[in-house]
Amino acid sequence: MERPSIRSYALRGNRLTRAQALAMQTQWGNFSLQVESELRINDLFPDKKQVILEIGSGMGEATAGIAEHFPDTGFVAVEMHNPGLGALLLLIIEKKLQNIKLIREDATHLLNNFIPDNSLDAVHLYFPDPWPKNRQHKRRIVQPEFVELIASKLKPDGYIHIATDWQPYADWIKVRFDDNKRFNGGVIARPDWRPISKFEGQGLKKGHAVTDLKYKKIK
Ligand SMILES: C[S@@+](CC[C@H](N)C(=O)[O-])C[C@H]1O[C@@H](n2cnc3c(N)ncnc32)[C@H](O)[C@@H]1O
Repeated sequence: MERPSIRSYALRGNRLTRAQALAMQTQWGNFSLQVESELRINDLFPDKKQVILEIGSGMGEATAGIAEHFPDTGFVAVEMHNPGLGALLLLIIEKKLQNIKLIREDATHLLNNFIPDNSLDAVHLYFPDPWPKNRQHKRRIVQPEFVELIASKLKPDGYIHIATDWQPYADWIKVRFDDNKRFNGGVIARPDWRPISKFEGQGLKKGHAVTDLKYKKIK
C-alpha cells in the first residue's frame, strides 16, 4: 500500500540514544502494534471507557503525562520518528503506564486504510509541524481532505483537540474546520492537564502564543 507522496513530517535524524535503543529492543513488542488489517482501537483497551488516537506524539512527554492523568482512558500514539517512539517507551516504563499503545506509521495512511468510519472517540493533534513557508503549506497535515478524513473516522459527538504555537497555522486550522459542515467548535482555553512538551517549551521561549482548538463532530 502506498504512503502519501506529500509528507507532513520531516525526515529528521533517526539516531537513538542508548537508552531509547534498549527500550526499543526490549519493550517495543509489549507496547506497540503492527497494523495490517482493520483496527478498532477501542478493542485494544476493553476495560477503558474512551480511547484517544494521538497523531504525532513526538518525544511523548505530553502523551505520557496525559495518560498518567487519565488512567481510565486508553491512548494510541501514532508517530514516524523512531527516537520519539523510543523516548515514549522509556516514559511508559518509568511511569508504569498501562494505557498507551504505539504505532509506527503515517497517521493519514493508517486512518485512510485501517481505521473504520465512526470508530474513534477522539483525536489529539499537538503541535503539528507548522511548515511556515508558503511553498511548504501543502505539507501541513491539516488540509480539507484531512478534516474530512477525521470527520469520517470520529464517532458522532467525537472530537479533535489541536494545539499549535504558530498563529498563522491556528488561523489556517480555524478556516479549514469552519469550512467543513460536519464540525462545531473553535478556540478553547488551554486545559490544565496538557503538559508542556519540549517542543511547546521552545515555542514559548520564542514568545509564541499557544492556541488550543477543539472541534466536535456534529454529523
Ligand atoms: C512538531 S512535532 C510535535 C510533537 C508532539 N506532539 C509535541 O507536542 O511535542 C510534530 C510530530 O508529528 C509527527 N508527524 C507529522 N506528521 C505525521 C504523520 N502523518 N503521522 C505520524 N506522525 C506525524 C512528526 O514526526 C513530529 O514528531
